[in-house]
Amino acid sequence: MHEDRHSYKMRLRDMAPELEKFTNDERILNLQVKLCACGLSKTKPICDESHHQIQTEEPGKVYVYDSELHGRALENEYPERQRPPPPPNV
Ligand code: FES
Repeated sequence: MHEDRHSYKMRLRDMAPELEKFTNDERILNLQVKLCACGLSKTKPICDESHHQIQTEEPGKVYVYDSELHGRALENEYPERQRPPPPPNV
């Protein structure tokens, strides 16, 4: 199950504030870059729109994808993830 099904847009100036030492061109500094958050992009860290493949994933299931981005849900291959108990209050 992918929790992030979309990319994140960031401006170059926010990704690399040191760019402002080299240019004050607002067109460059405000360029938006789409960063992959789904993990399937073949051009990481830049989103290549592969996240469209995961839009039909069913909640709660774990999917694996081959190099052609054909996905399949894993059925009972992993037991339910269990969270460890919270630490005792000290
Ligand atoms: S978020 Fe677009 S390919 Fe991963």
